Amino acid sequence: MQVVTTISEFRAIHHAFGHETTLGLVPTMGYLHEGHLALVQRARTENDRVAVSIFVNPTQFNANEDFNSYPRDQEHDLALLQRANVDVVFMPAVSEIYPEGFQTYVEVTGVSQGLEGERRPGHFRGVATVVTKLFNIIAPERAYFGQKDAQQVAVIKRMVSDLALAVEIVVVPTIRAEDGLALSSRNSYLTPDQRAAAPVLFRALEAAQQQYTMGVRDPELLRRTMLAVLNREPQAQVDYVSVANAATLVELNVPTDQALLLSLAVRIGKTRLIDNLILSTSKK
Ligand code: PAJ
Repeated sequence: MQVVTTISEFRAIHHAFGHETTLGLVPTMGYLHEGHLALVQRARTENDRVAVSIFVNPTQFNANEDFNSYPRDQEHDLALLQRANVDVVFMPAVSEIYPEGFQTYVEVTGVSQGLEGERRPGHFRGVATVVTKLFNIIAPERAYFGQKDAQQVAVIKRMVSDLALAVEIVVVPTIRAEDGLALSSRNSYLTPDQRAAAPVLFRALEAAQQQYTMGVRDPELLRRTMLAVLNREPQAQVDYVSVANAATLVELNVPTDQALLLSLAVRIGKTRLIDNLILSTSKK
């Protein structure tokens, strides 16, 4: 496994792979877990070569967020990626991606605006900018993203389509702990007590899913079902619960037969967790 920190080193390696070789990219911010590794495994099965980027991207964190304290463990990450048979790891310094004088950003409008975009101003502009730059440096045939970050997937897909970027976006289902908690690097912030409370996010989604399977289609009723479950957990402070059109992410107020995105953001202590489920009649 080759590990490089500069754009020119990465391009030299890619050049050496040759034109016929397909390359899959898994962009990450490190502190890797089984969720990230599921993306790597999927990339492994679909491409000749697999690249993983590890870059904690400052532009997607706003002033009150955890950029400085975001968990990092380079040695452990590299050991996991080596074991997962990754070909090349790109881990640039901040100055490699944002050199002195940097002033170009990518902004996706509509689909960036509700949900996470509303609570984290500038977040998706940072994500879209860094992902565009990574696509330009790494030039993968395919790039892998987790359903865990549903709005991020929608933003990236929109951007790739709008800008005719030559990359196929592959979405991988959310990997969960046995108790249902979606794996996340931020779970490491939770105390044992908070960790025990955290599966309430998935239980809330499941409760709404159950209602949906019984025929409930009223978005407000589904939101209330999620809230009722969350409100029973004293450690959970709800940021939002949402029932949106899964394609457009527009919040729904009237029943629809189209696929729904149930999503929520909840603070447990100081840690903000998100999760989501897609519901559609075509799927059991
Ligand atoms: P990060 O949070 O490190 O996540 C990297 C990728 O792993 C994302 O596509 C995310 O959706 C996926 N992922 C995280 N937890 C997952 C889980 N439990 N199951 C399945 N996939 C999971 O998302 C980012 O980094 C950044 O915004 C990035 C795209 C790298 C741009 O900076």
